[in-house]
Amino acid sequence: MSTLIFAPSIDQRITSYQTKAKIRKYGRFVLLFLLGVLIVLIPCLVIILHEKNDCSTPSPPPKPPEWNASDYISNSDYYKDFTVLHDFTQEDNLRLDQLSWPRFCPGDGTQIMYLRKQFHMPDLNGSSTTLHWADVRVIVLTKFVQLTRPIWGIHDQQFHWIDKKTVLFLSNRASSGLTQLFQLNLPDDILSIKDFIEPIQITDFPLSIDNLLINRQASRLAFSCQVYFNLSIQDTAIQQSIDKASGRFMYKFDKLFIRHWDEYMIGLRHHPFVVSIDKDTQGIFRLTSTPIDILFGIDSDSPTRPFGDAKSQWSFSASGNSFAFTRQHDETSKVAWSTNLDIYTINLSMANQPVVCITCNNMAADTDPKYSPIDEHLLVYRAQSMPGYESDQFKIKLYNGTKTWTLLDDWDRSIQVATWTDDGQSLYLEVDEYASHAIYQVMNVLTPNSTILRDVITTGTYHDVSVNPTNNKTLLMTYDSIIQPRNIFICTNKDVIFPLTLHNYMLISKTTLKESYGSFTFKGARNDTISAWHIVPVNGSRQKAPLAFLIHGGPQNSWYNTWGHGWNFYTYAAQGYAVLAINFHGSDSYGQNFTDSIIGEYGTLPYEDLQLGLTAALKLFSYIDETRVIALGASYGGYMINWIAGHPEMSRRFRALICHDGIFDMREMAYATDELWFTEHDTGGFTPYDNPEVFEKYNPINHVANWSQPMLIINGGRDYRIPDTQSIGAFTALQRRGIPSRLLYFPNENHWILNPLNSLIWHKEVFDWMRQWTQ
Ligand SMILES: *[C@@H]1O[C@H](CO)[C@@H](O)[C@H](O)[C@H]1NC(C)=O
Ligand SMILES: *[C@@H]1O[C@H](CO)[C@@H](O)[C@H](O)[C@H]1NC(C)=O
Ligand SMILES: *[C@@H]1O[C@H](CO)[C@@H](O)[C@H](O)[C@H]1NC(C)=O
Ligand SMILES: *[C@@H]1O[C@H](CO)[C@@H](O)[C@H](O)[C@H]1NC(C)=O
Ligand SMILES: *[C@@H]1O[C@H](CO)[C@@H](O)[C@H](O)[C@H]1NC(C)=O
Ligand SMILES: *[C@@H]1O[C@H](CO)[C@@H](O)[C@H](O)[C@H]1NC(C)=O
Ligand SMILES: *[C@@H]1O[C@H](CO)[C@@H](O)[C@H](O)[C@H]1NC(C)=O
Ligand SMILES: *[C@@H]1O[C@H](CO)[C@@H](O)[C@H](O)[C@H]1NC(C)=O
Ligand SMILES: *[C@@H]1O[C@H](CO)[C@@H](O)[C@H](O)[C@H]1NC(C)=O
Ligand SMILES: *[C@@H]1O[C@H](CO)[C@@H](O)[C@H](O)[C@H]1NC(C)=O
Ligand SMILES: *[C@@H]1O[C@H](CO)[C@@H](O)[C@H](O)[C@H]1NC(C)=O
Repeated sequence: MSTLIFAPSIDQRITSYQTKAKIRKYGRFVLLFLLGVLIVLIPCLVIILHEKNDCSTPSPPPKPPEWNASDYISNSDYYKDFTVLHDFTQEDNLRLDQLSWPRFCPGDGTQIMYLRKQFHMPDLNGSSTTLHWADVRVIVLTKFVQLTRPIWGIHDQQFHWIDKKTVLFLSNRASSGLTQLFQLNLPDDILSIKDFIEPIQITDFPLSIDNLLINRQASRLAFSCQVYFNLSIQDTAIQQSIDKASGRFMYKFDKLFIRHWDEYMIGLRHHPFVVSIDKDTQGIFRLTSTPIDILFGIDSDSPTRPFGDAKSQWSFSASGNSFAFTRQHDETSKVAWSTNLDIYTINLSMANQPVVCITCNNMAADTDPKYSPIDEHLLVYRAQSMPGYESDQFKIKLYNGTKTWTLLDDWDRSIQVATWTDDGQSLYLEVDEYASHAIYQVMNVLTPNSTILRDVITTGTYHDVSVNPTNNKTLLMTYDSIIQPRNIFICTNKDVIFPLTLHNYMLISKTTLKESYGSFTFKGARNDTISAWHIVPVNGSRQKAPLAFLIHGGPQNSWYNTWGHGWNFYTYAAQGYAVLAINFHGSDSYGQNFTDSIIGEYGTLPYEDLQLGLTAALKLFSYIDETRVIALGASYGGYMINWIAGHPEMSRRFRALICHDGIFDMREMAYATDELWFTEHDTGGFTPYDNPEVFEKYNPINHVANWSQPMLIINGGRDYRIPDTQSIGAFTALQRRGIPSRLLYFPNENHWILNPLNSLIWHKEVFDWMRQWTQ
């Protein structure tokens, strides 16, 4: 059933626009949008999108409605009846299934499982994540079985395949509505399953649990729970109901963080709990000890906020008797300006063993411990060397209980994930490289002087590698690119990958989406070579077309060769725009020097790159109408929009601007954002009181007198990275100066637009604004 796709042919999708080949991919995305009430002010529009905002302690989610079989339809079934092709829309984009967590069966390379998140068709009102199994004995004849039933609002996640018959996972299926541990018993003949398998609930804690990790022996299990740092799970639940009943509603802070990413830090901590487990006579797993809170009494999180997870930050040793975890040092305010993470280990074989820090001599981040599958004392981890710099290069280090050494010390790549092969002799590395998320293998890791590095696959976006336990060579992973939404792929040899799942192919086949993108390079600031993506509008290059000029955030990020669920190039192309996306100075994946070059240069090198890149693109692509160009950016990209607005020689090249969560005032930002290291590091390692000049030098707020171009401004109310007052300030500036402008405010969204219904509104508003000013 599957067509074979060989990586070289994917490579060759790069079209003839490409002038120099090295750079492809695009990358991470930013997601989008919201709902609400509409307030019309004259002459502007302030749109406030509005939903109940409950900042108090979390209460259990409402019990989801019963699954209604007649209400379920897959996207393939929904789209198969479409008879005419249509241009790709954000609605199509949001209806795509999201595939993740591919895993081989332990000890058996012929069976796999993965997760599939689906959205309610066609209105996107609800989603569900389910477990899926496949027989991959013959790749082109892969057979699939959906193991769990889709129920709107229910998400089965983080499964661990214990043995051929048993799977443990987390789900919010619990009758309490909370997320708990569940077991799935697989029959001998999985292919004979007609309906779904009913999971068995194992735990029933009074709070939700998260971050499941199980040792190889299936004798110990770790999970996280959000507790008050010196209270048990039960006592935390009791304290929360007392607090709620008290009617007292006030937050008190003695230290930073006040807020982090999208939540107020009001006392709850992610603590890791470790507990013994065993199967009972019925073959059902039971907890056989009291869960131990490894960080009890410590006002700190593991996994770390906001994005840490057990998959990367926790590990059990080969015997299962040692546990390693990453934590941040958040007992004091310093957590807000230090990026220092450290790895701790604890010997679980006897009670009350001390927790030992193995990386505390490095003041930069150390994280992602992964014990060797064969050596009880050996673990690999990732480390940065520059304190206070989140985008410093990550190298991999080995630690054997007494000594630490660095692998591939001379390699100019930042390593994102390292995965052991089952024989403990090599590691697969997920690496950001030239706007791709590539995979490399480093062999002979135990004999550091004779390691061999080989590139496995380097074009596109690969994540979540699972290694075939019987041959160390076949890999299972997710794959996506600018033109292909994510699916589960198998890689059997260097550069040979096959799609296993085809979940989104039907949907895509009913759209006019076609390969019409390429990359090119031009001479940017300092005469450095800069890479960019270019996408041809849906109706081709025969007639003049307006341009969507996209500016990425970070700024230490890139437009990667990846599928965007927000900021998807093709959603703009489908509206008739050519798209230009430049990886300016400061972008990651082009070597650490290039990433670092933006320090102290927020308003210069990237700005020059954007000027030169626009000029280069207009020369290369003569059909682009240079009088109808719109610039859009989010986060740092939004900063750049505000910076451009104050510089007429650049701003007047754009009919209008769109600024999502952008910095308006660097000085206020430095005091009001959550993670202070961004502004302090990027200005050269200064605080705004030690060196106010570096904050004022490239501060958009100082150039409002030169603003002239219409601007659409968007901010999430729960964006504590770029607080909403930044956008309110910019909007006020525009209104005060009488410049056509509009503010979209999404009270319940953070730095990204995560709610699909909000994402639809975002796209409609953005496309309306673009159309209005390019007609
Ligand atoms: C299931 O959904 C269909 C269509 O929405 C509706 O007609 C039917 O009454 C529902 N059944 C139940 C049991 O809710
Ligand atoms: C979405 O689903 C919920 C129940 O799951 C229902 O109450 C609500 O009316 C639905 N909204 C829309 C727009 O269909
Ligand atoms: C927990 O810590 C808080 C804050 O330090 C303190 O007020 C409280 O008394 C402690 N509770 C227990 C049970 O130790
Ligand atoms: C953990 O403690 C046990 C019992 O003292 C000991 O045998 C074992 O070597 C220790 N493990 C490590 C990794 O130090
Ligand atoms: C760690 O490596 C060093 C140097 O190779 C060696 O001397 C030491 O014995 C090793 N420690 C363990 C616990 O294997
Ligand atoms: C590896 O090479 C370094 C110098 O290149 C040398 O000092 C060290 O002894 C070598 N280690 C081994 C295990 O051969
Ligand atoms: C895995 O690779 C190693 C070499 O790194 C080899 O010695 C071992 O036999 C391989 N294991 C299997 C199962 O092929
Ligand atoms: C860039 O190159 C041009 C000639 O190609 C040269 O005149 C100019 O000085 C160079 N600029 C820098 C910053 O090196
Ligand atoms: C593309 O061409 C088709 C057919 O002429 C037309 O219906 C459609 O509106 C065009 N799309 C855009 C975005 O211009
Ligand atoms: C990075 O820049 C430094 C000086 O700024 C230079 O010494 C080093 O060689 C450069 N590294 C690479 C890989 O270009
Ligand atoms: C406005 O732009 C002009 C021309 O580039 C420049 O001379 C002037 O200094 C700018 N004023 C501000 C406040 O940025």
